[in-house]
Amino acid sequence: MKILIVGSGGREHALAWSFKRHDDSREVFCANGNAGISEIAECVPIKPDDIGGLVEFATSSEIDLTFVGGESSLALGIVDEFETRGLKIVGPTQKAARLEASKSFAKEFMIRHRIPTAAYESVASVDGGKEAIGSGKFGDENATYVLKADGLAAGKGVVLAQGRQKALETLEAMFRGEVVSEEACNRVVIEECLTGKEVSVLAFVDGVSYKLMPPTRDHKRIGEKDTGENTGGMGTICDDSFLSKEQVSFIKDAIIRPTIEGASEEGFPIKGILFVGLMLTEGGPKVLEYNMRFGDPETQSVLVRLESDLLSISESIASGTLSETEVTFSDGVSACVIVSSENYPKTPRTGDRIKGLAEAGAMENVVVFHSGTAFDSENEIVTSGGRVLGVTAKGSTDSSALHRVYKAINKIEWEGMYFRRDIGRS
Ligand code: AMP
Ligand code: GLY
Repeated sequence: MKILIVGSGGREHALAWSFKRHDDSREVFCANGNAGISEIAECVPIKPDDIGGLVEFATSSEIDLTFVGGESSLALGIVDEFETRGLKIVGPTQKAARLEASKSFAKEFMIRHRIPTAAYESVASVDGGKEAIGSGKFGDENATYVLKADGLAAGKGVVLAQGRQKALETLEAMFRGEVVSEEACNRVVIEECLTGKEVSVLAFVDGVSYKLMPPTRDHKRIGEKDTGENTGGMGTICDDSFLSKEQVSFIKDAIIRPTIEGASEEGFPIKGILFVGLMLTEGGPKVLEYNMRFGDPETQSVLVRLESDLLSISESIASGTLSETEVTFSDGVSACVIVSSENYPKTPRTGDRIKGLAEAGAMENVVVFHSGTAFDSENEIVTSGGRVLGVTAKGSTDSSALHRVYKAINKIEWEGMYFRRDIGRS
């Protein structure tokens, strides 16, 4: 059995680990991988946006199943290209991936299918945005305004602006391409600001049926007490107690099921992973965003709890037989804390040797997933990106999982390493 994973971060390391866990004889390849992934899989130097190169590799190496990690390959249509050539792949088509790749497309879809979400307006110019902000529909002079770049922006496309003046300045900066690239910002979605606790719900989906994963909560800001710049994610907790039974029923009936059925009706059935970011408002859960893939670092904490075989699940997604496949998770709680480089997210320092990886990884119920790591000329593992490691552990409670994670992090050291000490606590 040969499996190809597309991507190179902590999410992809967790995917490789999960595929190998049930059967070590599986041959796992990763395009393009990192130092940690290379310990359990063969890394091949093909970038995730080189769709032609990936097709060629999967064909010539007789890959049995490809699993796509990140959104960029999906938005480029990797699934369509593979399926046209009869190559088995897990992920949404380019059309389905638009639910993530275009915020205005996603909002229009939610309105069509009566899926609860924040009120919004999608504007194509500064003038249109000024009118929407000035209309009073989203609040008064002092309200918080939510502005979202329409396209893919690697977690940097959403700004919560305090007050109308700041919102107008942000709007102009967005259309000038100063927040994210102009390409990702040909439209801006202005949204009602929702309040409540956030939680993410992920599901395996085969076009018709779905299996929910336990809910996760991430910490996006760089600083403790959720302060400072937004990052790709500084840590996650995976804990069933984030949602009551009633909330789970509501999310299934009012959000997940209508999303899957709505997409099928519109001719782009969802296959792969559906990731719904939710705000638990006083008026019930509302959708903040769709992602059409696993999250990073949600995947690390979710997959350490997955007891079923990820390969059987993936094959059943590809063949449309997910309803007959068992998907179970261990009880308890898991936590993943990201250890990053100095100056992340602005200009992360790289090239520092990492000590203590083996000691941390040897701890019971602890897995150290690598994000930005590489080998130096002497074959030592060094930092090579902003997010470097996702130290992940299971426990019977959130306290025991977090205790293990922080104990493992204490064994790891490099110059300038940084992590938040309040994951799961703020
Ligand atoms: P998104 O990429 O759409 O999930 O947005 C990133 C983050 O911005 C979310 O995790 C929320 O913390 C925040 N956010 C997005 N939309 C809203 C909203 N309508 N109201 C309040 N906060 C929001
Ligand atoms: N952690 C959020 C994401 O992967 O989009």
